Amino acid sequence: MANLQSTFLGIKSPNPFWLASAPPTDKKTNVIRAFEAGWGGVVWKTLGTQVKNVSSRYSALNYGRKAVGFNNIELISDRPLEVNLREIREVLKLFPDRAMIISLMADNNRKNWHEMVKKAQDTGAHGLELNFGCPHGMVERGMGAAVGQDPEIAKMVVEWVMEVANIPVITKLTPNVHSAVPGAIAAFEGGTNGLSLINTIQSVTGIDLDTLIPNPNVGGQSVFGGYCGPAVKPIALKMVTTIAQEERLRNIPISGIGGVTTWKDAVEFMLLGASNVQVCTAAMIYGFKIVTDLCDGMSNWMDERGYTSINDFVGLSVPRITKWEQLDINFHIEANINQEKCIHCGLCYISCEDTSHQAITVERGNPYNTYTIKEEECVGCNLCKIVCPVNDCITMVEHRKGSEYLNWIEYQKRGLPLNDH
Ligand SMILES: Cc1cc2nc3c(=O)[nH]c(=O)nc-3n(C[C@H](O)[C@H](O)[C@H](O)COP(=O)(O)O)c2cc1C
Ligand code: SF4
Ligand code: SF4
Repeated sequence: MANLQSTFLGIKSPNPFWLASAPPTDKKTNVIRAFEAGWGGVVWKTLGTQVKNVSSRYSALNYGRKAVGFNNIELISDRPLEVNLREIREVLKLFPDRAMIISLMADNNRKNWHEMVKKAQDTGAHGLELNFGCPHGMVERGMGAAVGQDPEIAKMVVEWVMEVANIPVITKLTPNVHSAVPGAIAAFEGGTNGLSLINTIQSVTGIDLDTLIPNPNVGGQSVFGGYCGPAVKPIALKMVTTIAQEERLRNIPISGIGGVTTWKDAVEFMLLGASNVQVCTAAMIYGFKIVTDLCDGMSNWMDERGYTSINDFVGLSVPRITKWEQLDINFHIEANINQEKCIHCGLCYISCEDTSHQAITVERGNPYNTYTIKEEECVGCNLCKIVCPVNDCITMVEHRKGSEYLNWIEYQKRGLPLNDH
């Protein structure tokens, strides 16, 4: 049986699944239930200056299934600091084997950051996470993403924190930037021990077409919210990869966040360089019990592949993401339809005919039409496979155009033909 034990910056947890700083981790009663359910650790809801929240706070993008994307305009913890700190101490006593990280966001001055760090580490927590990512509410006050979006300020704040921190510090990055790398480098130069990403992405999830008021509606108005959930996973994976590939960051430990819902999502983050993952939306939508599936799924997958520890696969897919000019132009695939599985819906034909390469023929019939691939026309774009509603009905078959690896740079040097399709 694979061992899911995780060590992140020296902080041990029985599995690599932490709850991200958010409502699931904002009070003792939640965190106790989360630990009873089996979560390896939590990042406590961000502590900072006192705030006042509004109502309503959440909205969602439903596309086929509920809340494929989730949006919030909540602020940091709106509970008194002393209550949070007391509860953190109590939970630490009850669950000494779980990771307890405290998320912090202080006013932008050295003294306040020093005070917050000292109060937080006095609880006995195992680590701190700096919230440089919250994109709403706190930004207007010069905090959250306002810090993360300015590498100079980010570096300065991390330096302040490191002056007094005596436990590991993780800097949580904002995705509301062109690239996460400058902010990550700034945090690294400031002395951060680890990085976590992503926080939420600024968004408008939709408008109520009866009232014409965008969601979430706060008395007839709205603001840009923070987007998360399955819809943001591809963006988060990309940002994690850019950090994992950055030589100047010298293999800094990464905690991956953004849309983790299933064990497969978690494995993907880890294959792209995250040493553990954090989860928020999936716990909010499905409850704490999903951690059982996360653990079982990852453990079974590891057993199947012969991995005994999570470190056996962290980062394995990072070198597989390269620059476009390095891709092999001689690699070529063509679609193949399994006529026994086909239900003759014609969706592949419509897609290829209307928007791709007119590479599928239709033979009109009664009671149904038959679809076949014109191999010489197929560019191997994958579109028909993506739209086909039957699993494994369309497969992509390799038909190389040449035996050697040939990239774009070499292709140009040789003056080989362009615009041939
Ligand atoms: C309602 C809500 C409140 C959040 N509050 C915080 C917060 O206080 N501090 C923080 O660092 N991130 C906060 N986040 C961001 C999450 O920690 C996480 O980075 C983000 O939701 C992406 O993960 P997910 O797709 O698993 O939800 C919040 C997210 C939501 C949905
Ligand atoms: S892979 Fe693309 S080009 Fe080929 S048949 Fe499918 S949709 Fe058409
Ligand atoms: S989309 Fe799939 S099931 Fe539908 S006709 Fe094409 S191959 Fe058959």
